[in-house]
Amino acid sequence: DTPALLDTYGRVATDLRVSLTDKCNLRCTYCMPEEGLEWAADEQVLTDDELVRLLRIAVERLGVTDIRLTGGEPLLRPGLEGLVGRIAALRPRPRLAMTTNGIGLAKRATAFAAAGLDRINISLDSIDRDTFQRLARRDRLPHVLAGLAASHAAGLDPVKINAVLIRGVNEHEAPGLLRFCLERGYHLRFIEQMPLDAQHGWNRAEMITAAEILELLRTEFELTPSPAERGGAPAERWLVDGGPQEVGVIASVTRPFCAACERTRLTADGAVRSCLFSTDETDLRGLLRGGASDEDVAVAWRDTMWGKLAGHEINEAGFAQPIRPMSAIGG
Ligand code: GTP
Ligand code: 5AD
Ligand code: SF4
Repeated sequence: DTPALLDTYGRVATDLRVSLTDKCNLRCTYCMPEEGLEWAADEQVLTDDELVRLLRIAVERLGVTDIRLTGGEPLLRPGLEGLVGRIAALRPRPRLAMTTNGIGLAKRATAFAAAGLDRINISLDSIDRDTFQRLARRDRLPHVLAGLAASHAAGLDPVKINAVLIRGVNEHEAPGLLRFCLERGYHLRFIEQMPLDAQHGWNRAEMITAAEILELLRTEFELTPSPAERGGAPAERWLVDGGPQEVGVIASVTRPFCAACERTRLTADGAVRSCLFSTDETDLRGLLRGGASDEDVAVAWRDTMWGKLAGHEINEAGFAQPIRPMSAIGG
């Protein structure tokens, strides 16, 4: 009978996405500028103890059952294996997943699995080294591929792949990327680009829509709707060539899934947000450092979620991008 993270539309948030750092070691063109961003100062970022306390409050008092570690790039957080172990030791034990660019995973995947990580999602927009470098502005494709293979070998199952298609850069690679994933048993999802880049360069006409993604894939594959239950998941799933293998499409812009949203978010500097696109957020770090009780924190978190909007307003006139970019919110 844990009082849940309920909002005025009747949704209950059970899935907590935590940004562990706003830093990243790639510079994907659709995310941040070449020179990077002004990262949060160390003292602004939650310590491991502060973070574990907030997560404990979330699972003990707020009904959170699923925790996803994101960034920036979560692998850049020092001592992450230890933090994963501490989160996996919370009771009731949350399901624990991570979304990462995969760099450095080759050496660490086994340790994460042993520490209690259940699942992993890895971003991979291209399997062509030149295209990868053009998109991520870093020549790191071999590291990512090694990380992917190591995650699979470590038993992190399923390994999911996230791919963003950029017009004129990697769209022609969509079928090849799917073939690559099918051959290796990775679950691929294509994501529509959202207006969350630090440069505010998003442009609707440039975005590759879900309809286009399906059209690109259908040049080489037969796609039929998956009978699997979708729940609050962002991805719409399609059976490939009759199944059982599938491909997902995350159509955040053209087919929003906000009505079934189960997510609450925590930034690396300790702010709770009810939505990726929230224009306001609540500073929990200040509460923690000011001596607040667990219940004070839980009440502030519940209040924030109660104010969650019906959905993002990307498709409304007058839409304004949130001040924080995706890399600081957690994807
Ligand atoms: P699983 O399917 O449970 O593995 O997770 P996921 O797809 O929610 O996680 P992941 O971190 O891999 O996110 C993939 C993409 O989904 C992100 O890049 C976002 O574009 C999108 N996404 C996740 N949560 C939200 C959300 O609340 N709103 C919107 N619009 N997009 C989201
Ligand atoms: N729109 C959609 N997806 C994005 N990602 C980063 N920026 C955007 C954006 N503006 C993706 C990354 C990663 C996932 C967590 O979010 O490529 O796969
Ligand atoms: Fe880094 Fe992810 Fe942004 Fe790429 S999309 S620069 S991997 S935070």
